[in-house]
Amino acid sequence: MNTPSDPARPTSHARPHATERRRIVHVSDLHFGSEGVEERAEAVLATTAALRPDVIAVSGDLTKRARPEQFRAARRFLDRLEAHAPVVVVPGNHDVPLQPFVRFRSRLARYRRYVHPDPQPFFTDGHVALAGLDTTRAFAIDGGRARRAGLARLAERLADLPTHAYRVVVAHHPFARTPGLRLGAVVQRADRALAAFEAVAVDAVLWGHRHETVVAPADTLARGVSRAFLLVQAGTATTRRGRRSERGQNTFMALDVAARDVTVTRLAYDDAASGFAADATWTFARPA
Ligand SMILES: [Fe+2]
Ligand SMILES: [Fe+2]
Repeated sequence: MNTPSDPARPTSHARPHATERRRIVHVSDLHFGSEGVEERAEAVLATTAALRPDVIAVSGDLTKRARPEQFRAARRFLDRLEAHAPVVVVPGNHDVPLQPFVRFRSRLARYRRYVHPDPQPFFTDGHVALAGLDTTRAFAIDGGRARRAGLARLAERLADLPTHAYRVVVAHHPFARTPGLRLGAVVQRADRALAAFEAVAVDAVLWGHRHETVVAPADTLARGVSRAFLLVQAGTATTRRGRRSERGQNTFMALDVAARDVTVTRLAYDDAASGFAADATWTFARPA
């Protein structure tokens, strides 16, 4: 018979993160309207179906130039993605039209119409929670900003979860620099955002924008952070604009959340196999 001291049956005291396993697929920077995207998107859908995720994060830059036909193509893709699992999607800088009048009047009007009425959606099943944070700006073509109101809303939503729930933020812009790169802007008010994430015990932050994969605990990449929550920067899933170490490559991510640890897998497109396959994995203990 198992007793509370039996190692085969750890006590709840020994399992602060007791939870059912969950798989999150993280796709970014689709850029519908760019060359070759539709074809690659078919491969993303096929691999996502095979992975059988519990929830899917799409971290912005759905379109090339925020044109209606590009949003319609993105919408068709999201409809098919949603057949596999709930999707939490946020806008990227490319989803804001370039025309000044449109930008300043209502930068996310088209995004709201075609993608989702709420640019900061929220999903939870009690074991995993994904909170979207809109980092787009009307006054910057490329850069982003973590606004106080968005952070407050996110904190409110994550505060009421059971302690074992794995808390994930989904945003478009980076909150930390890429290791080895001295330049490369982070989102404005990144420090404020990281402190807010730490205060509500966030476990992982997913973003894109740079078209190159980075996976690291926050305390190794950002100053002033003591909680080792995970930072995941996904590459571009579908465009030919992969950068630096991922030049010409297409990648996306899968996170397997278990009671004590999280395994992050990068899926990379393999031309010879005409499909995505795992080419790197990282495993991290969940932060206390
Ligand atoms: Fe992008
Ligand atoms: Fe971007």
